[in-house]
This record gives sequence, structure tokens and C-alpha cells, in this order.
Amino acid sequence: MTASHRTTIHILGLGAMGTVLAIDLLRFTNALVVPLFRSQERLAQFQRTSGNKVSIRKLYLEGSPLLSYPVERSECPETFSKKPISNLVVTTKTYQTKEALTPYLPYINENTNLILIQNGLGVLELLKEEIFTDAKNRPRLFQGVISHGVYQDKAGIFNHAGWAGMKVARLPWTDEQMIQKRSVVADDAANNSLVELLTEPTFAKEFGIEHSTYQEMLSGQLFKFLVNACMNPITAILDCVNGEMIDSCGPVFTSIIDECLQILRVAYKPLFEYQEKFNGNKEYPDMDINAVLTTSNMVSEVTRIGCDINSKNSSSMRQDTLFLRDIEIEYINGYVVRLASNLNLDPNSCKVNKTIKELADLRLALNRSRSINGDWRKE
Ligand SMILES: NC(=O)c1ccc[n+]([C@@H]2O[C@H](COP(=O)([O-])OP(=O)(O)OC[C@H]3O[C@@H](n4cnc5c(N)ncnc54)[C@H](OP(=O)(O)O)[C@@H]3O)[C@@H](O)[C@H]2O)c1
Repeated sequence: MTASHRTTIHILGLGAMGTVLAIDLLRFTNALVVPLFRSQERLAQFQRTSGNKVSIRKLYLEGSPLLSYPVERSECPETFSKKPISNLVVTTKTYQTKEALTPYLPYINENTNLILIQNGLGVLELLKEEIFTDAKNRPRLFQGVISHGVYQDKAGIFNHAGWAGMKVARLPWTDEQMIQKRSVVADDAANNSLVELLTEPTFAKEFGIEHSTYQEMLSGQLFKFLVNACMNPITAILDCVNGEMIDSCGPVFTSIIDECLQILRVAYKPLFEYQEKFNGNKEYPDMDINAVLTTSNMVSEVTRIGCDINSKNSSSMRQDTLFLRDIEIEYINGYVVRLASNLNLDPNSCKVNKTIKELADLRLALNRSRSINGDWRKE
């Protein structure tokens, strides 16, 4: 990218993920980073309270410096310039996606690059079925599977607690495009302004970008999905810190993972058949997923990563239920339930995840009711 050319990148959702990305784009590229706020009130709050700056504390660096960078332009639906959007990052919570995108839809077209940087699965289906229903006028879609860990403390400061990178791939609009040749990656790296920006060497190294085919990213996304499908709802339902359940979580993790994998194997059939069909073909990368995405391997991986390595962590869903915020359950265990129905599978095929979803919803409802009516256990 030449020094005179500036890529403009709009960020919809300047929360934890939006901020961690914005900071490194401002530090290591010359992109024009434009946050999009939900309302004039939130925009004014950013301008007044933050002085038009995005800030983050890099907890994993010695001395935990607070980095602050000024933003040249920021907008909301009322002030939006009404020009087509070239590059759009969506970093809202999954369940906020539709409402957040709606005011900007007139400015998103087939020349827009749109990247989802969110946990869970199911937003792609939402975009296909409810938002970009006209197949001729759909943006070029990408997904970022992000493993950086960021939280906002009581003072409102974002803290970058864990550095772990982000996998990026182009998302297919149809199931027939699920398996990509290596040439798709090379072509985007050379010709797509969003991918060019995200893979600029300094930024890519500092942020930990791994640009790959969809199937490579998807296998990592399903791995992370299974970690989330266990750790998030179970810690929220039980109201526990991750490591507290290490010795007793095996049976429930086995039930959740086994059921998820049975449904995911149907929904993502080309991925699960990939190894035998494509390994050894030079046009496609070799992948070893069949040994990874098994129930026994995933139960031990989720227990190792979730309960051991991150033993002192409190999951985002537990935090959301404690602070009475909506939870992303519809895009985790709830997604598996919707898949089973869309694929016309036996309703009993998703009963574990359906119950887990209902219990997580109940946990949040109970915490909300206790905040109003008091805790009856103490009476
Ligand atoms: N935090 C992590 O460590 C982490 C790690 C991996 C993945 N993820 C995933 O990344 C996604 C984002 O999570 P997060 O932690 O960054 O959430 P977050 O801190 O809650 O950020 C979401 C942001 O979206 C904004 N937003 C909501 N509705 C909007 C609208 N209509 N218009 C404009 N902005 C809107 C919110 O602004 P308001 O304040 O105005 O609501 C908020 O700033 C989630 O799917 C999460 O699971 C998070």
C-alpha cells in the first residue's frame, strides 16, 4: 500500500474487540479508522469523555502501559456522511448485529468488504436470510475468529489481558463455496483492500493475523465454538469460576460436545469429508481435522484450555449474567438447536443443547428477578 493511499475502515461496535483492533490499526497502519456509534448521545459521550481517543491498557506488556490514540472521524446514524462504505468491521455482540447494521444498509453494496469479528455461529445465516436477501447486492464477507482477551474495568478502561491473535478468512455466501482453493487466499491478499490492510506485515505481526482458506478458519472456529458451548453456559448456570469445576465437568461436557458434533457434522459435511477428498491435492491446503474434532479429544481440550489454562477466568457469559446483560446463547448452544430444526433432524437430536440454553436463559432471568425482588434464599 502506498503512503499516499489511505484505506478507510469503519468499526461498528467500539467495545472491547472494536477497541483492541482500532488501537493496533492506528498504531501500525495509516488507515482512517472511523468508529460508528449507536446514537448521537453515545457519539457525544465518546467525544466528550474520551476526548475522541481510543485507549487500552496492554496488561500482558511489562508495566501495562495505557495506549491512547486520537480518532480523526467518528459517526452515528444521524451524522453519517451517506457515502458508500468500503470496509466495515462488525464488533457488536452477535445479537446486536441486525439492529446495528440496519441504519448503514443503504451504504453497503457489492463493493463493500464486511468482516464479522464475533464469537459463536449463526450470524452468517442471519445476514443471508434476514439482512442481505438480494443475492446481487451482497457485500464481500469475511470472518475474524479472534482469541485476544479484552475486558472493560470498573473505571471504563479496556484491558487487553491475553494476546492470542485472529484467524481471518473469506466467508462463503453459499454452502457450495465452503471449500476454497489456496488461490482464493492469494487473490484476496493481492487485490482486496481489507485483506491487504489486515495482512500488512507490521500490523499482522503485532495483532497476530493468520489469513487462510475458509475451511482452515472454520475448523478453528468450530473448535472455539465447542469451548464456548461448554465453558460459557455451564459457568453461567453454576455461577462458578472456570477452574472450580475441573474435576467434575467431564460428563456434562461430553453430552454437550457429542451432541454439537453430531449436528455440526451434518451442517458442515464438506468440512468433515475434507481430509479424504482434498488432502494431497496441491490446490488445497492439507488439513487434519478428523482427529481434532472428536468428542473425546474435545472434552479433554475444553477441560485443559477452559478449566486448567484459564482456571482463574470468569467466562463472558457468567459476567453477563452477573451484570444482568443479555447473553449470546442464541449464537452458541441456541445455534445448534436452530441447525437441527433447519436440517429437519429429529427434535430429540438437540435436547441437551436446548436444555442448556434454557437453563442459561433461566439463570439470567433469575439474577434479574433477584435484583428487583431480592434473594429469597436469604429470607
Ligand atoms: N471481549 C473479549 O475478550 C472477546 C474475545 C473473543 C471474542 N469476543 C466476541 O466479540 C464480540 C464483541 O464482544 P465485545 O466483548 O467487544 O463486546 P462489547 O464490549 O459489549 O462491545 C460491543 C460494542 O457494540 C456496541 N453496539 C451495540 N449495539 C450497537 C449499535 N446498534 N450501533 C453501534 N454500536 C453498537 C456497544 O455499544 P453500546 O455501549 O452503545 O451498547 C459496544 O461498544 C462478541 O461476539 C464476543 O463474544 C469477545
